[in-house]
Amino acid sequence: MNDFKERIAAELIAVRDRSLTYTAADDDLLVRQHSPLMSPLVWDLAHVGNYEELWVLREAAGIDPLRPEIDDIYDAFKTPRKDRPSLPILGPAEARRYIEGVRGRVLDVLDTIDLEGPDPLHRDGFVFGLVIQHEHQHDETMLATLQLSGQLGLVGDGDLPPGRSAGPEEVFVPAGAFLMGTGTLPWAYDNERPAHRVDLPAYWIDRLPVGNRAYAAFIEDGGYDDPRWWSAEGWQWRWRSGAFAPLFWVRDGGAWWRTRFGRTEPVPMDEPVQHVCWYEADAYARWAGKRLPTEAEWEKACGWDPRIGRARRYPWGEQAPGSDRANLGHRAAHPAPLGAYPAGASAYGAEQMVGDVWEWTASWFQPYPGFRSFPYKEYSEVFFGREYRVLRGGSWAADPAAVRTTFRNWDYPIRRQIFTGFRCARSGPA
Ligand code: AVJ
Ligand code: FE
Repeated sequence: MNDFKERIAAELIAVRDRSLTYTAADDDLLVRQHSPLMSPLVWDLAHVGNYEELWVLREAAGIDPLRPEIDDIYDAFKTPRKDRPSLPILGPAEARRYIEGVRGRVLDVLDTIDLEGPDPLHRDGFVFGLVIQHEHQHDETMLATLQLSGQLGLVGDGDLPPGRSAGPEEVFVPAGAFLMGTGTLPWAYDNERPAHRVDLPAYWIDRLPVGNRAYAAFIEDGGYDDPRWWSAEGWQWRWRSGAFAPLFWVRDGGAWWRTRFGRTEPVPMDEPVQHVCWYEADAYARWAGKRLPTEAEWEKACGWDPRIGRARRYPWGEQAPGSDRANLGHRAAHPAPLGAYPAGASAYGAEQMVGDVWEWTASWFQPYPGFRSFPYKEYSEVFFGREYRVLRGGSWAADPAAVRTTFRNWDYPIRRQIFTGFRCARSGPA
């Protein structure tokens, strides 16, 4: 294998190691549905193998189905999450055997396939990028399931750099055009394409995500009980849900506590807030006299390098994220303190744009002008419209392979179990 193929093989192995770590629990925990929002963990495990079989073995290499009878069960569209526990899904041991069988054949295909050929699935190893990123995204979903399960001791925690308090509250982005999206990153999804010019008026954007201390001040100020801060839909959500704080927070003895992977601990006031839905982010921003950034504002502040007139792959440039630049790839099981990554700043000086928490934006998930679905409509196209809000940046649980300044994630505005926070913006001159 050449260097590029070796790199692909290493990425395949690394993501599988992580999937197996997240499903190393007792069988009982793997087959249980911990929340109607989520699949049983063992469904995610076999689903990533089935997706890999579908795309690499069948579509890219023309190999016959290994187990055609299970395809419908692992098709996310044919079986919504809430129905997954009632299906005849593979048990943990069988699921592991199945995905291992697929993987063995996938490595054989990698060995012989021509990655320079004309087939857009083959070119630059796209189909491998597709399955690697897919599995990483499901690994993050599995972590959200583990968080909801409240089980202790299943999720590892490492050390992160300390925060720092010096620095301005906001950074300024002058008016002007930039190129949004990408036409060149080889493993970018269809929804990130094509690159297109977007002209923006001047704006300010928070240098850092909103922290727990600031968010607690919003709560203390009666933020959840004041309709002035909420959109009409948000206010409805607030009353229907009974929410009074981020998910997993409780108030006890005059202080805020949170439950994180089964442990209850004081809310660290210097971390970005997480587990807030879009409506909460939107309400906070109004209370703070600001607003959520549009997706274009977020991407320009994160990735655009005005000196060379080009977008960067990561906020700081092209170098892979090291432990001094971003909290990605599950180094620890929580966001890093605010200000922990001065070396990860963007050209405009915004920090912690990637890693730590996904950030809600003001924008609906919509196609870019000239969008073409590739390689299938159900990855992006069926979600376009005014139902999902765009999330940017990637959380502590996202992997560098599935994070870049152009990467787009999306979810319903009521979702809180994902590792999501936000930062604010406001229009205006310097
Ligand atoms: C892009 C994270 C919204 O998890 O539903 C997984 C990614 N697509 N399998 C999701 C995805 C197909 C998707 N998100
Ligand atoms: Fe999937």
